Amino acid sequence: MEIVVLRLGHRPERDKRITTHVGLVARALGARGMILASEDKGVARSIKEVTKRWGGDFFVQTETKWREEVKKWKRKGGKVCHLTMYGENILDAIDEIRKEAKKARIMVVVGAEKVPYDVFEVADWNIAVSNQPHSEIAALALFLDYLQQGKELKNKFEHARLEIVPKRRGKKVMISE
Ligand SMILES: C[S@@+](CC[C@H](N)C(=O)[O-])C[C@H]1O[C@@H](n2cnc3c(N)ncnc32)[C@H](O)[C@@H]1O
Repeated sequence: MEIVVLRLGHRPERDKRITTHVGLVARALGARGMILASEDKGVARSIKEVTKRWGGDFFVQTETKWREEVKKWKRKGGKVCHLTMYGENILDAIDEIRKEAKKARIMVVVGAEKVPYDVFEVADWNIAVSNQPHSEIAALALFLDYLQQGKELKNKFEHARLEIVPKRRGKKVMISE
């Protein structure tokens, strides 16, 4: 299953922390990368730094002309899933999305401020993680988990310098050179 997150509406002066967390959640929970519509080298740098230490090959692409990216994605057979509280409830659509995700790459779109209306139209699914307003970080985390049915929680990250040895109590980290 290949999943990429498109983060729209990032305002560098306000959203640094939230967008960084969108990227960290995407990486930790099985997405291949995050596409940022705006410029923010700081956000990209912090996520790349995490990847360098904790492994995997998560990518961050900034300054993307997102409408062109979405068109290209769909032209190549990819599907687009926009997370919005106005959408269809996740429980009513996740089986269908999971079935499609076996054949097609999935782009998951999350907003910051008001999302342009054409996103609702271009999306193959507009999905609500409950029909109540909350957060793009929480919506993304739950969506990724429902889509992958928890399997992403045991993902291995290649070439990690740091790897946690899970323990019931205390902390143990293996460090590789
Ligand atoms: C804090 S909300 C702002 C939404 C904005 N006020 C609007 O009207 O579109 C930012 C993003 O969080 C996500 N989000 C918030 N609540 C959601 C929900 N219940 N289900 C799915 N996504 C949600 C959406 O991707 C949304 O664009």
